[in-house]
Amino acid sequence: MSTPATIASSSPAPRTPSRFGYASALFCRECGQTCELGAQHACAECFGPLEVSYDFPRLSRESIAAGPPTIWRYASLLPVPPDIAGTPNTEPGCTRLVRADRLASALGMRALWVKDERGNPTHSFKDRVVAVALAAAVEMGYKVLACPSTGNLANAVAAAAARAGIRSVVLIPASLEAQKILATAVYGGTMVLVDGSYDDVNRLASELADDREDWAFVNVNVRPYYAEGSKTIGFEIAEQLGWRLPRQIVVPVASGAQLVKIDKAFREFATLGLVEDAPYRVFGAQATGCAPVAAAFRAGQDVVQPVRPDTIAKSLAIGNPADGPYVLDVTRRTGGAVADVGDDEIVDAIRLLAATEGIFGETAVGVTLATTRRLLESGLLDPEAETVIINSGDGLKTLDAVAGSVPSDTPIRPTLEAFAALESLAQSRKAIVP
Ligand SMILES: Cc1ncc(COP(=O)(O)O)c(C=O)c1O
Ligand SMILES: [Zn+2]
Repeated sequence: MSTPATIASSSPAPRTPSRFGYASALFCRECGQTCELGAQHACAECFGPLEVSYDFPRLSRESIAAGPPTIWRYASLLPVPPDIAGTPNTEPGCTRLVRADRLASALGMRALWVKDERGNPTHSFKDRVVAVALAAAVEMGYKVLACPSTGNLANAVAAAAARAGIRSVVLIPASLEAQKILATAVYGGTMVLVDGSYDDVNRLASELADDREDWAFVNVNVRPYYAEGSKTIGFEIAEQLGWRLPRQIVVPVASGAQLVKIDKAFREFATLGLVEDAPYRVFGAQATGCAPVAAAFRAGQDVVQPVRPDTIAKSLAIGNPADGPYVLDVTRRTGGAVADVGDDEIVDAIRLLAATEGIFGETAVGVTLATTRRLLESGLLDPEAETVIINSGDGLKTLDAVAGSVPSDTPIRPTLEAFAALESLAQSRKAIVP
């Protein structure tokens, strides 16, 4: 797998940003061929995926910190126009980085943080990538914002399009959680339920993207721009830690774009001198019912064999992940790993995070936290090293996952005796926090 020689360069002379900010070109992640910024997403030479490169201006911590409390404080590091903060968008980002001492103690770790992406406008990190994709789509003259989605992306696209006053079309598997379907439909765009897996939906979206010239499928034909939005998670973590990188980070993997872009963000900050260029290790988390990248990692392979997903972690149920090989590159290069966990462990981990830190995350964080546990047990994750885990979405969108595992009590009569009887029953129940 080829790795680009330079991901960022910094120019000493003052530069004028273009309509794509300081982005300078697209380059092929496979053969390195470059092409002009525009509406293409695959290399004309080898069909490899395209990636944005930049000619950054000199940036300081102070100038970033003086920016708005949204992802647009990092606008100079994204392929967006300089006036982006003034355009109608959902203004995602600047979510909390929560010091998780009670969770750390339950896991036997020294220093643990949870990046809590529920704070975004539609309660997942997908608002970040959609905001960047929307900006690029508008610049390139697209008229419709569209996507295939495992749920959270559909919420984010429908909301961002509503706010920008343009049409949205989202395609989702019909088997998604009811909460995610409702939280898309409410924005009033076009929502299409498809009988099939996410990979079937994605194939249909690719065919439609070829056919509908003015539709921007954020994660298909606008993907190089869209994926850059996930860098802002990495930028924020570094800034919130006091302008330094964590030693370890555990990230959920579906397509793999989030993990790859957090690594890119850490490298860009180091290249630009905004943080010390200290070593860090990146770990990927998957559900056993959809673990093609973890399987390739374990087998020492560079290619990812597609699987048919079967897991409660529907947001991560991508059987043929576009960025799978690059996740393998990043985790191997940094000395990390990719591992997977079963559905029961996912539910336990959702409850553990809620019971220790008051954070109710969705099934994706169940995967991330349970994998963190697994990696600690296997000695791959160092309990002494400062670690960040990503809570990428909201538990209120995946209620069924925990519905069977938490008590749903019948009401009591309004008497002290009835209350006392309830108390003794509660004491006999298994506590989730050790
Ligand atoms: C909540 C949540 N976490 C993580 C992911 C994984 O993101 P990626 O496809 O960038 O690997 C998704 C993808 O849909 C998601 O919805
Ligand atoms: Zn190429």
